[in-house]
Amino acid sequence: MAGINLNAGCPSPLVNRHGAGAGLLRNLPRFADMMQQLRANLPAGQFSVKCRLGWEDAAADFPRILDCLAAAEPDEVGIHARTRKQLYGGTPDFSYIKRAVQHLACPVLANGDITTPQQAMECLETTGAAGLMIGRGAVRNPYIFRQLKGGAAPTPEEMQQYYAILIEETGRILLHKRTEKGHCNRMKKYLAFCYPDFPAGQEYALRRCTSMAEMQRFLTQSPITCTENSCGETAAAQK
Ligand SMILES: Cc1cc2nc3c(=O)[nH]c(=O)nc-3n(C[C@H](O)[C@H](O)[C@H](O)COP(=O)(O)O)c2cc1C
Repeated sequence: MAGINLNAGCPSPLVNRHGAGAGLLRNLPRFADMMQQLRANLPAGQFSVKCRLGWEDAAADFPRILDCLAAAEPDEVGIHARTRKQLYGGTPDFSYIKRAVQHLACPVLANGDITTPQQAMECLETTGAAGLMIGRGAVRNPYIFRQLKGGAAPTPEEMQQYYAILIEETGRILLHKRTEKGHCNRMKKYLAFCYPDFPAGQEYALRRCTSMAEMQRFLTQSPITCTENSCGETAAAQK
């Protein structure tokens, strides 16, 4: 069903400068008002919120954010368990997700650094979250969803095929906006999520690629596979 997801998670300075994304968390009365307005105008099931733990101090900010969320009664809340100050680094603190699960009436989705089926299951168990949101871990290994349903870890062939599709599909979206070199550089950003799966030294080789042909050649020739670290025990058991 179509709906509106209010994003209070994006840490981009360009976005935050205008009070949007995680910038909404710097002005909680405005955030609360915006959510109330959306709730009042959207039918049940069509209003959700994505947020972080706060701007820079989760202990101080998050309880107030939770009160705003509880009052607005969204249909679902996804929480990236970091503050805006942490950007994408540091350790996500899932104890705050557990607090949200206890405080809010709606389903809560946990988000932040989930890259293996084992981590996913542990996160669900410890937080009581209704579900997970997996970002970079899914770019690195889209088969994580199959694994979560009890399926096998990806084979090297599946991963190589995936990288080929990743480059082709992002090219379709991005190439009309960028030069080939620009697209190549953007792909390095996405592939950085996958570096744990590259054989030693290959990360350096990939960073030096200057054209998409070079990158394509590199990815199809190198024996890329999910490591035990990035895919968890299922992959290890298959080796
Ligand atoms: C390249 C990239 C693009 C993203 N775009 C969005 C977006 O459009 N909307 C959103 O809510 N979050 C977006 N995020 C944030 C993710 O949804 C997620 O909250 C964050 O990456 C932490 O989860 P992870 O550790 O599983 O990646 C993006 C993250 C990355 C790395």
